[in-house]
Amino acid sequence: MRAIVAVCKNWGIGKDGHLIVRNRADMKHFVSSTMGGTVVMGRKTLDSFSKGRPLKGRRNIVLTHREDFVREGVEVAHSIEEVLALVASCNPEQVWVIGGASVYRELLPYCSSAIVTKHECLCPADSFFPNLDESPSWHEASCESKGLTEENVPYAFVTYVHRS
Ligand SMILES: NC(=O)c1ccc[n+]([C@@H]2O[C@H](COP(=O)([O-])OP(=O)(O)OC[C@H]3O[C@@H](n4cnc5c(N)ncnc54)[C@H](OP(=O)(O)O)[C@@H]3O)[C@@H](O)[C@H]2O)c1
Repeated sequence: MRAIVAVCKNWGIGKDGHLIVRNRADMKHFVSSTMGGTVVMGRKTLDSFSKGRPLKGRRNIVLTHREDFVREGVEVAHSIEEVLALVASCNPEQVWVIGGASVYRELLPYCSSAIVTKHECLCPADSFFPNLDESPSWHEASCESKGLTEENVPYAFVTYVHRS
């Protein structure tokens, strides 16, 4: 299982239920990384998508405590254990934890790597990804500088690997 996330300098990832950095190239990178695979997300992240619809071309697994939750095109899990059972037979390289903050926090211990788009900006945020630079469990394996967003924010794709 792998995590994929876009952060700003203080590891902020969202505010008021929305993303905080606009970066079209990163959206393309997200789509090409996850396409054809399985994406695992929290119910709030699903609700942040256009019309609350799942992502096309991917198997969508959504975590919720609501027993009666049903959404077309979505497989529902009510616990981390249920998620792990649902993805047990998948190629782990093609299972992507896509947020939000609570789901990253809960599933990061099961991730072998994290693909982090780091933006050189500070935006107001109320949701955060764990700071992997300060975690002894993770180390930076590669960093590919990519240039500027449409709002001239420098960004890079950084791969972190979980120390076993
Ligand atoms: N920058 C990025 O790359 C990125 C990516 C994704 C999301 N985000 C941002 O992150 C923010 C949302 O994060 P969030 O933490 O508020 O919400 P979230 O993680 O998307 O969803 C939280 C919900 O997931 C369900 N859930 C979580 N853990 C569960 C468990 N163990 N068992 C059962 N259900 C569980 C619960 O749903 P119920 O309430 O239905 O029980 C919970 O309220 C938004 O601002 C979004 O834009 C940013």
